[in-house]
Amino acid sequence: MQESLSSLLISWYQKHLRKLPWRETRDPYKIWLSEIILQQTRVAQGLPYYEKFVEKYPTVFDLAKAPQDQVLRLWQGLGYYSRARNLHICAQEVAENHNGIFPQEYSDLLKLKGIGKYTAAAIASFAFKKPVPVVDGNVFRVLARLFNIDLNIADTKSFKTFFETAETLIPHNNPDLFNQGMMELGATICTPSNPACLICPLATGCIARERGLQKQLPVKEKKIKITRRFFYYLVWEQNNQLAMKKRGPKDIWQGLFDFDLIEKQEPLNEEEITEFVKEINPLSKVVNISPPIQHVLTHQRIEARFVEIYIDKSSDLSGKTLNFYDFSEIEELPKPILVNKYLKGRIN
Ligand code: ADE
Repeated sequence: MQESLSSLLISWYQKHLRKLPWRETRDPYKIWLSEIILQQTRVAQGLPYYEKFVEKYPTVFDLAKAPQDQVLRLWQGLGYYSRARNLHICAQEVAENHNGIFPQEYSDLLKLKGIGKYTAAAIASFAFKKPVPVVDGNVFRVLARLFNIDLNIADTKSFKTFFETAETLIPHNNPDLFNQGMMELGATICTPSNPACLICPLATGCIARERGLQKQLPVKEKKIKITRRFFYYLVWEQNNQLAMKKRGPKDIWQGLFDFDLIEKQEPLNEEEITEFVKEINPLSKVVNISPPIQHVLTHQRIEARFVEIYIDKSSDLSGKTLNFYDFSEIEELPKPILVNKYLKGRIN
């Protein structure tokens, strides 16, 4: 029964698969790149990023020796920049400690920076045909429905049950096709709302379909706390140049460039903003204060206002680690989307 389930899945996959470049290679470097990108975005949006990375860095050595700013710039728009920094570090680990050759074993892949259970299983199975199941959001959904597993998928303790269930299904001759098939089924047929059960190759063995439980499964109960943050960006301007700085560790957007940032616990009005700017630099002139711009991250909601300030050549920003850049230089710097949005509004 379970053997036929995996062969039904594989036959269906081979007939209906979307042709994607990372499915036509066994190069672990390219497979790894695609999986890191696809954790961040959907296939249609991820594809151009994948192509840009492969073109600019055809091998793991090319990526390893690239400057971090360049890697972050290429990643710009995908968000969650720690993934891009880890990608770069992982490339350096593979280049320096493994002679540029990715390990084949799941347990060895897991030791590399930024490679978790999902990515390790993807590389081990797609590049090396190791029978390790991938368990991502799509696979959670397919398994939860097929076997009526009502564990909370947001609870990390549930992973083991799903992984072990998939292990009982994965065929040792075609683990790669099975894994791709599970993900493809989850992405195109067994979708979160309105799954296409009528054309599903696994419909006859599916408990959720038999009992009408598709909408209840998988169970996902998340309790996340959203922090509100109020950002006041001081955009110091002098001779058509803006003062920017590279963000340090211990907060979001590490390694990206933004402006002089003052963070407050509460929102301020324009008078209060002008007042604290004057305290920082009495000779400066506030010329514009943007309306609040909202930026939502997984655990944070940021409300940012950009305060445009002219300062005199002789004026002093000492104590601040800022550098002045031309607009053309700023264009090339890796920046958070929030900052980019503001700059686009200024230029147009
Ligand atoms: N999403 C994550 N990995 C994928 C893959 N290998 N193919 C298609 N979509 C994916």
